Amino acid sequence: MSLRDLTASTELEIGACASLENLENDRFTELLGNEFNRLALENDLIWKVVHPERETFAFKRVDKLVDFAERHEMAITGHALVWHIENPNWLVKEDWRAVELADVLRSHIHTITERYADCIDTWDVVNEAVDDTGELRETFWLEHLGENYIDDAFYWASEHTDADLYYNDYGLPYNEAKQDRVYDLLKDLLDHGIPVDGIGIQMHCVGVHPTPEQIQASIHRFQELGLDVRVTELDVAYHNDKRPNELKTAQAAYYQQTVSACLEAGVEGITVWGVTDDQSWITSWREYPDTYTQQPLLFDDEGRKSNRMRLWHQYSANTEMRDQLLFRIYSISSS
Ligand code: GLA
Repeated sequence: MSLRDLTASTELEIGACASLENLENDRFTELLGNEFNRLALENDLIWKVVHPERETFAFKRVDKLVDFAERHEMAITGHALVWHIENPNWLVKEDWRAVELADVLRSHIHTITERYADCIDTWDVVNEAVDDTGELRETFWLEHLGENYIDDAFYWASEHTDADLYYNDYGLPYNEAKQDRVYDLLKDLLDHGIPVDGIGIQMHCVGVHPTPEQIQASIHRFQELGLDVRVTELDVAYHNDKRPNELKTAQAAYYQQTVSACLEAGVEGITVWGVTDDQSWITSWREYPDTYTQQPLLFDDEGRKSNRMRLWHQYSANTEMRDQLLFRIYSISSS
């Protein structure tokens, strides 16, 4: 039984991210379309891809992913309208006057949200605006536009789409200073009538593994503000120097307890940040091959099949993780 079959009778959404290149692999597309009912656009809506020149938008890649999602009856998350990295040079190298940059940002948000108003039902409007010390991150946007860029981004997005509008960030369950600052930021937006619908808790459990209690407490805290909460970018890996003895068992158990905690706390959905291991951003940190354990996702990749032993280990780790996830979703949805 697939993940999406299990969730069919529930409201729960189970998603994965993908980029256009991933659709060239049949095994990948089969898993993506069969197992998941939400597609998050991993890279193709970031500024430098979708808006490579000031007067040019490049929509073909997004259109193909949207077409795939629609053919497979998947909901779509647009990621992300405002982020501090992955911006094109024409944008970040210019010495903008605030009013001019505000025009550029408004037009970017309007153009994209309007084009996909019928198919993208959830937007990561602002990604990672708070740093790890709990301050507003010193970004290009903050420097030129001041704090109001966040209010404006949500407001402008709401002008052309009825999609759910999310703030998305990492580290929230375990970094108290950051969680407090994000809480204050979102409370302030809501108090001022800014249309924010939800918060995405990324959950890259890479080296840091928040407890179920921490995860649930953070989810409840944001729910109390009236926000929907989603897990948006789940993956699990360990520092190699803290590698558990039984890696595959520890990893599967962590998937289970984390997913349980999130489901019990009433998240709207859980999205894993990739489908097959070879696609994960963690395995693409080629400069850090010795830093983290690999196989962070639910499915192994074909590319390594020639090394049978390695594949066997990899496959069993992934199978166990996937089974634990199925089991937890089944237990929750049938209770
Ligand atoms: C953040 C971003 C994602 C992705 C990951 C890994 O979580 O939101 O778009 O790039 O980092 O790099």
